[in-house]
Amino acid sequence: MIRRTILALSLAVSGCAFAQVSVTIDAAKPGPVINKAVYGQFAEHLGTGIYEGMWVGPESKIPNTKGWRNDVVGALKELHVPLVRWPGGCFADEYHWRDGIGPRDKRPVKVNTNWGNVTENNAVGTHEFFDLAELLGAEVYINGNLGTGSVQEMSEWIEYMTSPSKSTLAELRRKNGREQPWKVDYFAVGNEMWGCGGNMKPDHYADLYKNVTTFLRAPKEYRPQIIASGGHTDDVKWADVLTREVKNDMAGVSFHYYTIPTGKWEGKGAATGFPESQWFSTMQNTLRMDKFIRANKAVMDKNDPQKKVGLFVDEWGTWYDVEPGTNAGFLYQQNSLRDAVVAALNFNIFHQHADRVRMTNIAQMVNVLQAMILTDKDKMLLTPTYHAFRMYVPFQDATSLPVAVKNNGKYSVGNASVPQVSASAARGKDGKLYVALVNTDPNKATDVTVNVGGAGAGKLTGQLLTATAMDAHNTFAQPEAVKPTAFNAQASGGKLTVKLPAKSVVVAAVE
Ligand code: AHR
Repeated sequence: MIRRTILALSLAVSGCAFAQVSVTIDAAKPGPVINKAVYGQFAEHLGTGIYEGMWVGPESKIPNTKGWRNDVVGALKELHVPLVRWPGGCFADEYHWRDGIGPRDKRPVKVNTNWGNVTENNAVGTHEFFDLAELLGAEVYINGNLGTGSVQEMSEWIEYMTSPSKSTLAELRRKNGREQPWKVDYFAVGNEMWGCGGNMKPDHYADLYKNVTTFLRAPKEYRPQIIASGGHTDDVKWADVLTREVKNDMAGVSFHYYTIPTGKWEGKGAATGFPESQWFSTMQNTLRMDKFIRANKAVMDKNDPQKKVGLFVDEWGTWYDVEPGTNAGFLYQQNSLRDAVVAALNFNIFHQHADRVRMTNIAQMVNVLQAMILTDKDKMLLTPTYHAFRMYVPFQDATSLPVAVKNNGKYSVGNASVPQVSASAARGKDGKLYVALVNTDPNKATDVTVNVGGAGAGKLTGQLLTATAMDAHNTFAQPEAVKPTAFNAQASGGKLTVKLPAKSVVVAAVE
């Protein structure tokens, strides 16, 4: 009896040691399309996110088009940015659109009370924002002001942007340089109404939402999809009340969740130079996104079984302590390999929930929180997060495919652990099959066997993002310290096994 137990135990142990992670893609069961808007961006009037980072003005010596930096716009175009959310965030609920039209030197000067109390000269307003969207080839997502605005103000903004008529507001738009109405793709009624948007309860907001949407009139072809401000973290009340109370005119309910290494707003953790315990907690806290989306979906599935309403994660990303010596209100932080892994984990989660998660916006595009690009006067650098976004471009508008991960390893610290490998797959618009693999373990590489529908796969061709240090990052002195390299693997003996390096992201086409 004792001998049999020892034998069974040793088999189990050796079974563990030799078990290989296997990723099986079921190409015969296409799932929902991963809306390209899942790769959306967020640009708020915050710190140097817009002013300096992107907007320098037409008179600047920094090469620009209509005031927008050519270098930054050129780099962003490589990401195929599908849409940009503007002007906030918290800023949106104190933004009055009339301040941002007409001759720039005549626009009112305000104080940005949310972000550092700095001067806001309103140089970037509606026309400038649409210029940016046109330069990027992106859709627009405008966030309306419910906090300090009014139904009338929002209704008139929509009229100003979208009316083909001869109304005074449409003529004012023409006088300001725009003959044709713009198409406003998305419009949100307020932001974070549970907090900076007005500290409301969901029932109160649901009534206000219905009131506002009644008066957002626009010709059908220019009418935006309207978004309701939703909950955050583990609060599902907003998604629940809104999908019960609002029956029309709600394309999506927003949801916000930020990854904070320590989980505490006071002392969030540093962007670089962090201990492994904070690499681990960052992975752990990022993976909570899956649980939060599932909880929101559960209430939405009950109230809206036809899935008419999307869950739009219109703010997500890492939030660290600001870089020493920078304005605390500017939310400027470095961006390391860890951020690229966080982005990839989030993408894999979003793909899995493509039936409801039809839009997300990383916070934020340039110089703020988990940015794509950092700038210093006329210089700019691409962050590891930028590279993750670029690697995942084939997933935009791709058809998601079910993926089963077996024999997954665990990355453990103390008694806690997270799955070592995260995987996602989709059929791209180009007809190719793509797989994304992430290794959360900063110390151990792992072998992963990739199968397609149990039939095996011949080769992988794509890119790998990794580095030696957990906090490897790009600086203005070394802007290419972290960048993707080519990644190829060939099947042997009918098996396609790839070595996934520690702390890495791979995106590849499978043939
Ligand atoms: O992205 C920074 C801020 O975070 C946004 O303005 C706000 O909506 C959120 O709290």
